[in-house]
Amino acid sequence: MDHPALVRTTERLDAGLAGMARAAELLRSGRLVAFGTETVYGLGANATDPSAVADVFRAKGRPACNPLIVHCADADAAFRETDPPALARRLAAAFWPGPLTLVLPRHANSRVCAAAAAGLPTLAVRVPAQPAARTLIENAGRPVVAPSANRSGRVSPSEAAHVLAELDGRIDAVLDTGACSVGVESTVVAVRGESLHLLRPGGITVEDLEAVAGLVAVPDVEHAPDRPTAPGQMASHYAPFLPLRLDAGTVRPDEGLLAFGTPLPGAGRVWNLSPTRDLREAASRLFAGLRDLDDARHVAGLTGLAAMPIPAEGIGLAIRDRLRRAGAPRPRTECRA
Ligand code: TXA
Ligand code: MG
Repeated sequence: MDHPALVRTTERLDAGLAGMARAAELLRSGRLVAFGTETVYGLGANATDPSAVADVFRAKGRPACNPLIVHCADADAAFRETDPPALARRLAAAFWPGPLTLVLPRHANSRVCAAAAAGLPTLAVRVPAQPAARTLIENAGRPVVAPSANRSGRVSPSEAAHVLAELDGRIDAVLDTGACSVGVESTVVAVRGESLHLLRPGGITVEDLEAVAGLVAVPDVEHAPDRPTAPGQMASHYAPFLPLRLDAGTVRPDEGLLAFGTPLPGAGRVWNLSPTRDLREAASRLFAGLRDLDDARHVAGLTGLAAMPIPAEGIGLAIRDRLRRAGAPRPRTECRA
């Protein structure tokens, strides 16, 4: 049975003046509003309101040990909640607004409630590039937590319709800001003094980061996939209903194919991530493709998904990461005690 506080009518808002004003008003009064960013749709709530933050965890079915990203309108606002080392300021100057999340020591007087950061002494902060998202946060007048607007463990939404497919009736509104341009989530890095550690590959590439930060510590997840690198970053995530295999060299008629370049012959259904093998295009079409093949499983008689090889470079690292998690065995819970 759902918690009674979860049963809600979900307003559909467009990103015009009235819709934006309504979305900000809902956030200010402790309600849950999903909105598009350049990466994926986030489920927004007032980061300083413990009851709103608790509702976010409930609506997603997210374990309380998995911390949320705090979204701010600009770097000054993000750095009021944290104690940024000099490297964090350089990264912010280079990549904000944009798809980079910085995990920093939390400021002693931060107004963000402890539950948002799962009680950790650090805080993940980001300034999104999507203008409507930034305007909304500014109008809300406080930092906004925004985990991806999907049920915990499932595929992230890159369109408003994806949000409604999972959260209709469980959140107060969705602000339709169109399809997300990047299509995979932000890169998450921990800044520890002058050293930088990759926790989740994403929209900003390791190559981009190294141009500003020098060497970036990148865990060898391709060869040790089960070791979590951050709270909540367990192997299974972004999971479609169908099992998925990676780096496929052949495909069966009862499989849906995520193609990259010329599709392998013989699949039951094909979603081409990028006919021209463009990694940025492939990232932007990844989550819609997983949903398309999943949704077609009954009509197309699919029993599994196969993904063609994606190069482990640039944003290809993030695509491979999401595919690996989509194909990982599913544990009963995401957090270990
Ligand atoms: O692109 C994005 O980042 C999207 C959009 C909506 O902004 N948001 C998003 O949030 O992907 P979420 O909650 O789905 O993923 C946040 C990730 C999780 O893996 C979480 O464990 C990690 O960031 N994280 C948050 N706070 C952290 C912290 N203090 N230390 C380490 N990891 C943290
Ligand atoms: Mg997520």
